Amino acid sequence: MSHKPIRKAIFPVAGLGTRFLPATKAVPKELLPVVDRPLIQYAVDEAREAGIEQMIFVTGRGKGAIEDYFDIAFETEITQRERGKDLGALEGTRLMPGNAVFIRQQEPLGLGHAIWVAREIVGDEPFAILLPDEFMKGAKGNGCLKQMVDAYDKVGGNLVCALEIPMDETPSYGVIDPGARDGVLTEVKGLVEKPKLGTAPSNLIVPGRYILQPEVMKILETQEKGAGGEIQLTDAMAAMIGTQAFHGVTFEGRRFDCGSKAGYIEANLALSLERDDLKDHIRAFAQEELAR
Ligand code: UTP
Repeated sequence: MSHKPIRKAIFPVAGLGTRFLPATKAVPKELLPVVDRPLIQYAVDEAREAGIEQMIFVTGRGKGAIEDYFDIAFETEITQRERGKDLGALEGTRLMPGNAVFIRQQEPLGLGHAIWVAREIVGDEPFAILLPDEFMKGAKGNGCLKQMVDAYDKVGGNLVCALEIPMDETPSYGVIDPGARDGVLTEVKGLVEKPKLGTAPSNLIVPGRYILQPEVMKILETQEKGAGGEIQLTDAMAAMIGTQAFHGVTFEGRRFDCGSKAGYIEANLALSLERDDLKDHIRAFAQEELAR
């Protein structure tokens, strides 16, 4: 059976990023760099690699720099060209004209609300969601969303990325109540947002990658506030279980929670140790530092 292709992706970037204050007072969290590329760039590259054509950014006040980031940096380009400098570093920062949509969530009422804001742009199509502060590092050409789209092509319906974490960390995440497992696919029997310690149905969490059917927008329209007083995407997804296929996909790769300081620093370290221009220096420095 063929399933409707996934052509659109939503990047919710309207959150306040309070865990990174004061850095995020004037700079969007999504533009914080891992080595020399902003978090949002990695997420957009991952979406592109998965065949996404239209990138929908749900922004808010103070997030205008994200829109500029994906535009042509006219002055920089002219100046660099005049100086005979290579512009390769800017590759991938421009989106195809008409393929980027920016829409505002006026109030940060929660992730579920941010997704619902994009309902008219998504229309009657299944779509992907990528939370850019979750940095999912797959093999080249086979990122997290690509792996999920491959799974979607087989089973259709709704899919979330599924990741095992230590049980005591589950209160910070959306957690899966898992059913039968078949290869990378796990049936999702239930979902709970930020369960109290000791009450999570498993240690399988949803780290910010989703493929959802458009019906979720109807549910979000009347979704009550949930955990943390926010309109939760998890609660709307939970309401779809039983009416449509719902699976978790085990991701082959590494995940860095760049919404947290520790995860962000780990990502910078891990990526710099992979870069030919940095790895020797950083390795030597880290060894010296650890020996102090
Ligand atoms: P987070 O829970 O990480 O919140 O949101 P945050 O505001 O970004 O960061 P902290 O916790 O205050 O440090 C998860 C994702 O959902 C988006 C965020 O931008 C992030 O990508 N989000 C959250 C919205 O777009 N709108 C919201 O109302 C809430």
